[in-house]
Amino acid sequence: MKLTGIRSIEDLAKDGGLANKRVFIRVDYNVPLDKKTGAITDDARIRESLPTLKVAVDAGAKVILASHLGRPKPGKKEGLSLEPAGARLAELTGYEVHLTDDCIGDGPKKVIHDLRAGQICLLENLRFYEEEEKDDENFARQLAELTDIYVDDAFGAAHRAHASVHALPRMIRDRAAGLLMLKELRSLARLLDRPEKPYVAVLGGAKVSDKIAVVESLLNVVDTLCIGGAMANTFLAAQGKKVAASKIEDDKLPLARTILQKARDRGASVLLPVDVVVAKSLDAESGTAVSVDAIPDGTMALDIGPKTVELFGSAIERAKTVFWNGPMGLFESKPFSNGTFEIARIMSRAEGFTVVGGGDSAAAVRAAGDDIAKGMDHISTGGGAALELIEGRKLPGVEALRSSVGEEAS
Ligand code: 3PG
Ligand code: MG
Repeated sequence: MKLTGIRSIEDLAKDGGLANKRVFIRVDYNVPLDKKTGAITDDARIRESLPTLKVAVDAGAKVILASHLGRPKPGKKEGLSLEPAGARLAELTGYEVHLTDDCIGDGPKKVIHDLRAGQICLLENLRFYEEEEKDDENFARQLAELTDIYVDDAFGAAHRAHASVHALPRMIRDRAAGLLMLKELRSLARLLDRPEKPYVAVLGGAKVSDKIAVVESLLNVVDTLCIGGAMANTFLAAQGKKVAASKIEDDKLPLARTILQKARDRGASVLLPVDVVVAKSLDAESGTAVSVDAIPDGTMALDIGPKTVELFGSAIERAKTVFWNGPMGLFESKPFSNGTFEIARIMSRAEGFTVVGGGDSAAAVRAAGDDIAKGMDHISTGGGAALELIEGRKLPGVEALRSSVGEEAS
């Protein structure tokens, strides 16, 4: 993946280029919220946006932040205001953050008109308009009216061809990537463009079906693919193991066999769990490690066992490049968190270049502790976006930043 034709916010900030300009920064403040209290449970995406924000503020820009949050149904806004994100941003930075009541129209226009250099406003949730997800030109034009310069730092949303990341940047000549966007693209590019070998990928999570495309493309480049989490059960069943009450995708058994065959054809080795931690129910207070050849009737596999941690761990320790996406078990529940946390710990101390894909695995790494998170070379803020990039796909939000794109911009 090349970054040709993509400028950085620092390029635009040179020679006072942002001073007193209205700078629209698309961030991904789609942060997880506690279902009951509405409190932010993981503010990594907000923290990761701070370096870009600092460049803009220090350069004397009038900063307009915009993001989506959740997937609001038409007309339903409850619980999906960006107010908590704005409050957290203010708390983290000491900046005053003015939340507008809407993302387009007279409200934000007035607020932006009154902004002084170095001040910040945050537009209300872009997805309160269906037009955002429809990549609607008219909606994008209304956002374009608010701004002089466009910066995209929302790596987590770069795989969506939505108005604020796709139609809008094409309308603005002065556009650039933010520092988080660039960090993400540079780190993930190291996995795509001739990664250092041996390359080990660790995949987990619930479903094989979510990971088919990424497994297919990883098999072309990795030396070893470790599969854990609930998706491993389907592979074990495909090999004829008796997985008892474990969750599997019956209709994916043939696919699992095809994947294993493809791996053999391409000379990639696939490591599956050799032992698992089982229990009778998801809310069990403890589990028992057993061999995958002796899973007791009525029990289900909820984590990888210690021998599997060793097996995956020694592959990770020998690797020059490691990519991990998807937890190894039901890590939110203490008796089944060991596999995920151990893999995180081993990876954080490994010599190789280590990248954690976003979503659950990134949350798991942060839950495992600060020193473990710091030991990783890169923890992506994008779940879907990181996976699509690893699959070798072009991301609409990245392509729209290139100088060669957009008639209005030429
Ligand atoms: C994410 O959390 O993956 C991004 O913010 C994109 O959100 P979406 O999956 O609702 O489009
Ligand atoms: Mg390292």
